[in-house]
Amino acid sequence: MNPRLGSLHTYPFEKLGTLLSGAVAPAQLPPIPLSIGEPQHEPPPFLLEALRQGVSRLGAYPATAGTLELRSSAARWLERRFTLRPGSVDPVSMVLPVNGTREALFALVQAAVDTSQAPLVITPNPFYQIYEGAALLAGATPYYLNATADTKFVPDLDSIPQAVLDRTQVLFLCSPGNPTGAVLHEHFLARALDLAERHDFILAADECYAEIYPDEAAPPPSLLEVAQDTGRDRFQRCIVFHSLSKRSSVPGLRSGFVAGDPELMRKFLLYRTYQGGAMSPMVQMASSVAWDDDAHVRVNRQLYREKFDRVLPILSPVLDVQRPEGAFYLWVDIEGDDERFTRELFTAQNVTVLPGSYLGRATEAGNPGAGRVRMSLTATVADCATAATRIRDFIKGR
Ligand SMILES: Cc1ncc(COP(=O)(O)O)c(C=O)c1O
Repeated sequence: MNPRLGSLHTYPFEKLGTLLSGAVAPAQLPPIPLSIGEPQHEPPPFLLEALRQGVSRLGAYPATAGTLELRSSAARWLERRFTLRPGSVDPVSMVLPVNGTREALFALVQAAVDTSQAPLVITPNPFYQIYEGAALLAGATPYYLNATADTKFVPDLDSIPQAVLDRTQVLFLCSPGNPTGAVLHEHFLARALDLAERHDFILAADECYAEIYPDEAAPPPSLLEVAQDTGRDRFQRCIVFHSLSKRSSVPGLRSGFVAGDPELMRKFLLYRTYQGGAMSPMVQMASSVAWDDDAHVRVNRQLYREKFDRVLPILSPVLDVQRPEGAFYLWVDIEGDDERFTRELFTAQNVTVLPGSYLGRATEAGNPGAGRVRMSLTATVADCATAATRIRDFIKGR
């Protein structure tokens, strides 16, 4: 077997399982998981109906490139959601469907990395673990770029040594960020584009939380719009990742798309043809109608808003918590050992959170996740409020 498999790190949820094994939660309190970022809201009925209708299309092999119908819906959505010029996203050369962004984030790195060049892949730290696993399995070395409270949870691009930039082949960005909720704004994205151009690497922007944000008047920007605004009309060196999992609360559908530089897309399509990453025809049909509709996403956003409205006043007397700029996590400084906090909270209150150190890696400046926990507000509004009350009681009783 591939010896690189041995370099993969244990997945955070496996570590959590080990941490909590043998711990006994109070049986009289129903469990409330705030550990996993799995959207629990009802998906829109029209999406489920389109899925049912799509069953009739199962008699044909789907093309890896996807239907024009789906790619056009995705391109129209990009132009509508971000400030992109109408007609500037060509569905044929700039968009590809993927079976959720997870597999696509992984696959891109396998297709992109040239191992003859001592490659580096830069990932924000803390991060979504797929970035690191993708780099390791492709034969690249991950470079961890810390995003801490000192930099408002934005990775510090200017701290990257020149020698690292010269060896970099892919730089991952995640905005809004998991787990921090930080949004990467225009000036940051413009700087990243300059660096990518100067050092000739790919910018892989994971924007799968782009539709989850608190202020209807201030949606997070995309790397693509900054590329266009700075004269990079063919989105040179850029690839963005979008997903229906969070947008339409259908993590089980496994549907997303990537978009960007047509040169990258052409080679990525070649790779995917062999990998066998075609999307089921019924999923393509349902996805197309989902990308065409924005009303259900506003409803979804409102539900997350309500949860933060309920949870923040309960937690703020005992924890330093702020509403994030995007996504549905609280990335909380618990001023102590995050594993111990997680285990004791579970034992006392049957609420599960994720230790922050599992989402980061140790660097010279330490593990930026240590001393923090991630709370995912994906349960119902009532359950999130109950969980917050239990966490408050737990902290007060310590
Ligand atoms: C930052 C980030 N990227 C990508 C994904 C994968 O999402 P999906 O494969 O459902 O599109 C997740 C899922 O939790 C995530 O948190």
